[in-house]
Amino acid sequence: MIRFDGRVAVVTGAGAGLGREHALLLASRGAKVVVNDLGGSVSGEGGNSSAADKVVAEIKAAGGEAVANYDSVATREGGAAIIQTALDSFGRIDILICNAGVLRDKSFAKADLDDFEFVFGVHYFGTLYCAHAAWKHMNAQGFGRIVFTTSIAGTSGNFGQSNYGSAKLGMVGLMNTLAIEGQKNNVKVNCISPGALTRMTGNLGMDEDFMAKLKPGLVSPAVAYLCSEECDVSGATITAAAGGFGRVHMFETRGVQFDPAKGVTIEQVAERFDDITDLTRADPCTPGAEGKIQERLDSLAR
Ligand code: NAI
Repeated sequence: MIRFDGRVAVVTGAGAGLGREHALLLASRGAKVVVNDLGGSVSGEGGNSSAADKVVAEIKAAGGEAVANYDSVATREGGAAIIQTALDSFGRIDILICNAGVLRDKSFAKADLDDFEFVFGVHYFGTLYCAHAAWKHMNAQGFGRIVFTTSIAGTSGNFGQSNYGSAKLGMVGLMNTLAIEGQKNNVKVNCISPGALTRMTGNLGMDEDFMAKLKPGLVSPAVAYLCSEECDVSGATITAAAGGFGRVHMFETRGVQFDPAKGVTIEQVAERFDDITDLTRADPCTPGAEGKIQERLDSLAR
């Protein structure tokens, strides 16, 4: 059985929805949990300590250990204070699940730049601030598991979600580099791309039978696995919804190589554009920065 005894976990936005389920599952398997939530509305207004307090009470009632934290992830001080709560209460930080989130949907034609900054503040910077505060502790102790919460709105795009989607894909970029930098110290960084019926998705007008299958607790087993000692994957984005799981990844096509010594014309690119973009011949291109440059140059010599 996969367990988390002796491990200390921080779950942001754990007062409701997916974060609550992640926190309950980790605690039920022995983790000590910091339940962070500022208790605001879906669009990020207001605040209330009761959301986090209720989940702490649930964990304790089930025999687990947890403390609440009410800081916002969206400030540097907040991110640092959330991680400090784990250190002060339980003496270490092993697991970080960056889950806190808000929505301010609008088509790009009507986009409000204040909304962009607000949404980036919670999703991208909130993830960054918490990960940054936890990073040195995890690397120093030679163990860490971090899960960021991305979205299909970022990896695939979704009408009306330009602010949210771009913030969600930003954290995939952060993961790609942290997965490389954390490797030598057994710090693994992955993303979950969930689908679940929560207050965030409850009014999207989806079919009722379909919505009934989207239980948030069906996402948490994948998140918990990514947080476990048993997980040796880093830099993966796992999709999870209604008990179905998969992986989303960046690929680069095999493409085309012209002779760099002879230069390349616009017409050559146009002529070979179908081959350049042919997705039937593509390979994963992360982790690592080089891509296919050397491989294509080598093909010239053959
Ligand atoms: P939710 O609205 O039930 O939970 C989000 C929680 O984050 C709330 O309890 C809220 O108070 C908290 N929060 C918001 N701003 C915060 C801040 N600045 N600091 C601390 N806590 C804050 O929504 P849900 O669905 O559980 O979302 C969890 C995560 O999953 C979010 O990042 C969301 O974007 C992501 N997601 C959810 C999907 C779904 O189908 N429900 C799909 C794709 C991604």
